[in-house]
Amino acid sequence: MGVRTSLHLSSLLAGVTLLGATMLLPGCNRSAPKTEEATKAPPAADSSAAKPAASLPQQIADVMVKANGGIHTGFRFNHAKGIVVSGLFTPTKEAKTLSKAAHFSGPAVPVTVRFSDGTGVPDIPDTDPRIGPRGIAVRFNIPGGGFTDIVSVSHNGFVVGTGEDFLGLFQAVLASGPDAPHPNAIETFLGSRPLAVKFLKETAFPPKSFATAAYFSNNAFVLVDSSGKKQVVRYQIQPAAGVAYLDSAATAKAGPNFLREDLEKRLSRGPVVFTLYAQLPNAGDPTNDGSLVWPADRKRVTLGTIRLTKVEPNQEELQRSLQFNPTFLVSGVELSDDPLVPLRSAVYALSVAHRK
Ligand code: HEM
Repeated sequence: MGVRTSLHLSSLLAGVTLLGATMLLPGCNRSAPKTEEATKAPPAADSSAAKPAASLPQQIADVMVKANGGIHTGFRFNHAKGIVVSGLFTPTKEAKTLSKAAHFSGPAVPVTVRFSDGTGVPDIPDTDPRIGPRGIAVRFNIPGGGFTDIVSVSHNGFVVGTGEDFLGLFQAVLASGPDAPHPNAIETFLGSRPLAVKFLKETAFPPKSFATAAYFSNNAFVLVDSSGKKQVVRYQIQPAAGVAYLDSAATAKAGPNFLREDLEKRLSRGPVVFTLYAQLPNAGDPTNDGSLVWPADRKRVTLGTIRLTKVEPNQEELQRSLQFNPTFLVSGVELSDDPLVPLRSAVYALSVAHRK
């Protein structure tokens, strides 16, 4: 993975990325592209002293919108730019030893997959260093009409572990204009959070292809087998093509939409394949903080193969209507004690409501 070796807090201020959210700083000369539809963020629900403070999800939605330069009508607050493809997920025999869920214990099921750039800026160039991690959202379409989602990003370890910290990070960046005295809010925030700095550094360059990134759920889920036995896991989605990232020279030469073009080209030649794993924690590994990575020596169970074969037609309409959510679960998969998942779900719902 390409990593900037001399990244300082000051350069982060020029274009902080987190989870792909573009942090636009007042007066910053690297303002993000805006669409014609970009408008001012709606007033926060707590703008009147008479009203109760906005909920945490609402406050997060408000800062995300602000960081993206306003609402981009019809697009997600985050991971706005993407491509939807489809294929088949074939579970392994081992998968059903962990989960009785239909997609893990039965025959192969169709999947709908959306790859995305971070940020809520729909026309951001794929090469922009502020994009942060790329996303993959996998929908397992279960026979009989049900479905369940796995929503992951291309970094092992999330930028922060709690919704409060996520809000704090955005607020700190938005408060750190060029005229703010040092140490400013984001310098102070990141100064005590080395894992967030690591995340920002390691997501500064794009993968060579959506098909050459590894993706991580970071948040933990609970798999339940047919006898009711429960196992906490985190998902990993590893590319059969191997992990490959662009360096700065290659990034400078790549086109603004190269990730989509590359995927279309690859799929016209043959399937794009990923392996889905469940990583199992050892006793004592934290399950309630997605920023704390479980060591690489932890047991991994291969759950199956995702074989993508087709770019879906009607991209615009499909991307607008598709709603992925990490809490869309089926029998055999449950929430863990990770508080970020329900919080995410609430913020995603606000984003979905805005693109109707
Ligand atoms: C506090 C934490 C987080 C917040 C507030 C947040 C917020 C959002 C929002 C608002 C969206 C747009 C939803 C929509 O309109 O459909 C989104 C999409 C997405 N998020 Fe998060 N997110 C968080 C954490 C994460 C984590 C931990 C991951 C994965 C490890 C992740 C991966 C994604 C992906 C892949 C998408 C795009 C889904 C799609 O293609 O529709 N997010 N996020």
